Amino acid sequence: MLPVARGKRRSDILRGNVMAALFFEPSTRTRLSFSSAMMRLGGGVIGFAQPEGTSLSKGETLSDTIRMAQAYADIIVIRHPQEGAARLASDIASVPVINAGDGAGQHPTQTLMDLFTIQQEKGRIEGEEVALVGDLKYGRTVHSLAYALALFGSPITFIAPPQLQMPPSIVEEIEGMGVRCAQATSIKEVISGLDVLYVTRIQRERFPDPTEYQKVVGSYRIDKKALEGAKADLIVLHPLPRVDEISPEIDEMPHAAYFRQAFNGMPVRMTLLALVLGAIK
Ligand code: CP
Repeated sequence: MLPVARGKRRSDILRGNVMAALFFEPSTRTRLSFSSAMMRLGGGVIGFAQPEGTSLSKGETLSDTIRMAQAYADIIVIRHPQEGAARLASDIASVPVINAGDGAGQHPTQTLMDLFTIQQEKGRIEGEEVALVGDLKYGRTVHSLAYALALFGSPITFIAPPQLQMPPSIVEEIEGMGVRCAQATSIKEVISGLDVLYVTRIQRERFPDPTEYQKVVGSYRIDKKALEGAKADLIVLHPLPRVDEISPEIDEMPHAAYFRQAFNGMPVRMTLLALVLGAIK
């Protein structure tokens, strides 16, 4: 899929297929890369980027919206602020449903591109020492990634302010899979042993109380000083968007892999669409 994603080769393996992209929450990367992935493979895209222009604003339910989308499309990609919304959609729809992020729940396609990026950059996933940094409570990308890393047996360190640590239920499940987990409050404590530093944004929109957000905003900032003592081949990942948790001075360093990671959304989502729609095995 890589040469097709880069526009170097043409493919029409999904010609005649339509994807409904239902985005009830803002998105740049996920919506655009899914749409481009579908079009690069010859398929079509319908959908919306915010619910205001749809009949939801007249009071139509999510269930009825899903029923309509399945009537018009072969596959549904949904992002929604409520945890479990994608699962509900998959219970209702007779066409495949892909979760493009459900509240503070999961973001599984981000995880596929994170894993692909680690494999591409480091040559392997198994055994790589990974630290997840930032908002581990509300950050859905790190919930999905933690489960996936556990399947590869990669040791994980969770670095967060105490009130934004990884939910204990997820930690227990991962430890139950036999993976070594640790918690830390500072990057300095662990930087020298890391292969992958995965940074996340504090999810302001998910805080019930804005004063609680103010207490933790700016807790972690990755700059050249924060990376002192890191391995030469450490990679820094971020699902993006970033606010101020990675200084632009890192962008030009060999450690910075987050823009390549964002590009990888294309080939990974092309592959996923082609698999789910039966165009490849
Ligand atoms: N990583 C990610 O989900 O980015 P968007 O919110 O821009 O889709």
